[in-house]
Amino acid sequence: MASAPAIGFDVYGTLVDPLGISVELRRFVGDDADRVAQLWRATQLEYTWRRSLMGAYEPFSVCTAQALDFAARSLGHQLAPGATATLLEMYRQLPAFPEAAAGLERIRRATHRMVAFSNGEAAVVRAVLISAGLLPLLEDVVSVDELKIYKPAPAIYRHLATRMGTAMGDTWLVSSNPFDVIGAKAAGLRAAWVCRNPRAILDPWGLEPDLVVSDLVELSECFE
Ligand code: 2OP
Repeated sequence: MASAPAIGFDVYGTLVDPLGISVELRRFVGDDADRVAQLWRATQLEYTWRRSLMGAYEPFSVCTAQALDFAARSLGHQLAPGATATLLEMYRQLPAFPEAAAGLERIRRATHRMVAFSNGEAAVVRAVLISAGLLPLLEDVVSVDELKIYKPAPAIYRHLATRMGTAMGDTWLVSSNPFDVIGAKAAGLRAAWVCRNPRAILDPWGLEPDLVVSDLVELSECFE
């Protein structure tokens, strides 16, 4: 790749695995753990979109807590306050994807500027990335909390370029979340889709990523 781009890495789903929480959920909801984890994640994102449309922003940690309550009760589980507190604490210790550190390290060695770029509040994202061992590989955390509207609002992607001091066309989003990739492309950023699941498909909106890779190590080969 000719020029050195600035890269914003999505966090939940791209660097750390939100569905990894099912290991902890199992203690409280038994065999429903995977279903609760999936509904929790889907509801968390739905709440961000609804809150943005309503002009009723609350921080991502609020969306996360309310989505856990909804997901658990939807599947017939009433969590005790202690269980909820434990799960929300463990949500700050989500596991990194196995290749994330190696991929980030290789991209960093190629002297690219790299930040975390997330719906999560900066302090929470820092805690998550410290726990996952990834924070030292990134130069900063850019949070939607700075604008108080969620991805995929176009202003959020412009904000990433502004924070990095780069032109939109030299600024990359790296994300496993199709809605995030499409949002970045629609706003004028470049985008790489990290498609770890070969059966995943991108929404057919006619907004294609510049790169499609199966993981962050494969991505690092594109940025060398
Ligand atoms: C993130 O912003 C979309 O949850 C994802 O980290």
